[in-house]
Amino acid sequence: MKVTVVAPSNIAFIKYWGTRDEESTLPYNPSISMTLSTCISRCTVEHLPGTDSVEVLWRRRGELAPAPANFASGVERHLARLRESFGVPGGFRVAAENSFPTAAGMASSASGFAALTLATAGALGRELESAEASILARRSGSGSAARSVLGGYVEWPSQSGSEEAEQIAPAADWPLSNVVAVVSSEPKAISSREGHRRAPGSPLFDGRMQAIPDRLRTVRQAIEERNISLLGPTIEEEAIELHMIAMSSSPPIVYWTAGTLSVLRHVRALRDAGLSAYATIDAGPNVHVICPSEEEANVARALGQLDDVETVIRDRVGPGPYVTENHVA
Ligand code: DP6
Repeated sequence: MKVTVVAPSNIAFIKYWGTRDEESTLPYNPSISMTLSTCISRCTVEHLPGTDSVEVLWRRRGELAPAPANFASGVERHLARLRESFGVPGGFRVAAENSFPTAAGMASSASGFAALTLATAGALGRELESAEASILARRSGSGSAARSVLGGYVEWPSQSGSEEAEQIAPAADWPLSNVVAVVSSEPKAISSREGHRRAPGSPLFDGRMQAIPDRLRTVRQAIEERNISLLGPTIEEEAIELHMIAMSSSPPIVYWTAGTLSVLRHVRALRDAGLSAYATIDAGPNVHVICPSEEEANVARALGQLDDVETVIRDRVGPGPYVTENHVA
């Protein structure tokens, strides 16, 4: 059977930065994210019973070709885990594509592994509950993939303390946009995985852990009340702190470029001009600007005019993954 799933990326308001248990990919602190709709991974999985072969293809700039070795080996490892969990033998043919730059701090592994997990389950004829999908997606080693199997506003681990992600509000509750100012589409030099390992060594890490419970409460409340002036300052503080921790890790990790700082400054100027725009940044140089959807066009226009900005991606909160007949191959 051949099944294709589209899974969106997500942008974290409260970040996962620091892995408490690397074997199981469990974080030091809960994170809260917004699932997107434009930045997506599309993944087609075909089960090949009676073989052991795994073929991994990757569509880039319209061309379908064998995936680069590091990408293919990540897919193969995850397929091996899924095959073991489902107890089904056989090989696979996988074809994948992203609608956005890969590995540039835009959570392509979150959408990619969420799509791969759901498409593989589908190809094996398995229906997954969201909790099980979240746990299986996380086993890929990408913690943020645990959040991408759900739509809207998502917390991981869930507030009850179980390992899966849970939706805290559906997308329709609050139409927020994420305007990404892409200052570099180059793959990042240091992986999030390595950043997670180094984070607890930063002298700022313990202070962050103490601030997290209050910040989680603030973000949950802001989502419940649809209050951007409550959400905004907290997510900016949170993102800047992640990068201070990265920069004070040993050895230091500097994801920012001059372009990052220029966009951050400009976002402040947009606020001074009356827009409700707030920045957040994942493990890369690109700046995600969160704003109410009615301000998206103005924010995108303003950011697109900056010399340091290569492109602007307009994205918004979305309902999560879906199955499609539109196969990658
Ligand atoms: C900074 O290990 O989940 O984006 O970078 O996609 O491999 P990838 O992901 P993961 O780390 C995510 C780190 C983060 C913050 C976040 O999304 O919570």
